[in-house]
Amino acid sequence: MTRTALVTGAAGFLGSHLVDRLLRDGWSVVGIDNLSTGRPGNLAGARPRSHFRFAKRDVRSAGPLPTADVVFHLASPASPPRYQERPVYTLETNAVGSQRLFRHASASGARVVLGSTSEVYGDPELHPQPETYWGRVNPIGPRSCYDEGKRYAEALASAWIREKSLDVRIARIFNTFGPRMALDDGRVITNFLAQGWRGQAITVQGSGAQSRSFCYVDDLVDGLVRLAEVAPVDGPVNLGNPDAETTVLELARTVRALTGGRSEIVHVPRAADDPDRRCPDIARARTLLGWSPTTPFAEGLRRTSEYVRSELAAGKESR
Ligand SMILES: NC(=O)c1ccc[n+]([C@@H]2O[C@H](COP(=O)([O-])OP(=O)(O)OC[C@H]3O[C@@H](n4cnc5c(N)ncnc54)[C@H](O)[C@@H]3O)[C@@H](O)[C@H]2O)c1
Repeated sequence: MTRTALVTGAAGFLGSHLVDRLLRDGWSVVGIDNLSTGRPGNLAGARPRSHFRFAKRDVRSAGPLPTADVVFHLASPASPPRYQERPVYTLETNAVGSQRLFRHASASGARVVLGSTSEVYGDPELHPQPETYWGRVNPIGPRSCYDEGKRYAEALASAWIREKSLDVRIARIFNTFGPRMALDDGRVITNFLAQGWRGQAITVQGSGAQSRSFCYVDDLVDGLVRLAEVAPVDGPVNLGNPDAETTVLELARTVRALTGGRSEIVHVPRAADDPDRRCPDIARARTLLGWSPTTPFAEGLRRTSEYVRSELAAGKESR
């Protein structure tokens, strides 16, 4: 029997790749998105498919939601400049939107995969970060609308699980990259690649000694699908690539070489509350989902670089 998925944030970077993967796997998919940071063009491949429907909707607002076997709840601003522009909206999306989705899933008997984030760990004292670590988050800083919004969504999910036996699986997503990322949303890989291809200076925040670990989008989406398909999971699951940890300065040098070597590397002030290290412990994902990333970082970077280059050539630099 065909399984049905409701994907919120379907026109975004991760959501649109998830939609494509589910359609390939034979799911029937309904995507909803308010197009605040997502782009209709991300769904160009999905739209003609008979098992796909799209509705422009805001997860915070009232109105009926389509029923589904699985709700993948990914709707939320995700890049620091975008969520810091609209902190109240970001909190509402994660609080009110998640509550609506959980209530809907509970009423219709759906299971939920909640797209949470490694930002729930804040600026961590523990490396790599296991799911048992409670985090070190500034609750009132400029990033708190996102970090605390996601922590609230996790708390809400846990309450629905305990009190109402809702089947929610929490994916703590670490930095993910790949084609379809918006070039203007300030995420480091696309930022550097766009600067490199334009021949502009590559702007490294601080000394660049801070590290990130980057997971290629196809691997991440595979983790989300596996998380939806296994037996109920008790507690959150980290999804990310622990083998691709790199300092931001190393990344800038790699990108400079990949984009023709014309850019100089310059240092700019560090953003407030920017974490020093970010690297997932994925032991639980390996055990529970049989999952680990398979795309080498260099290959993912090459594909993303080609995407950025073609977007710039086509003049599609902004949302
Ligand atoms: N990409 C990453 O590295 C990463 C890391 C950790 C967590 N995540 C999480 O994954 C999810 C997707 O992130 P992404 O990178 O694809 O970002 P994105 O901005 O490309 O996608 C988010 C989508 O949600 C939509 N959206 C936002 N608010 C909405 C609302 N109120 N109602 C309906 N739609 C709304 C946007 O229009 C957009 O299409 C987010 O929940 C994000 O927090 C992403």
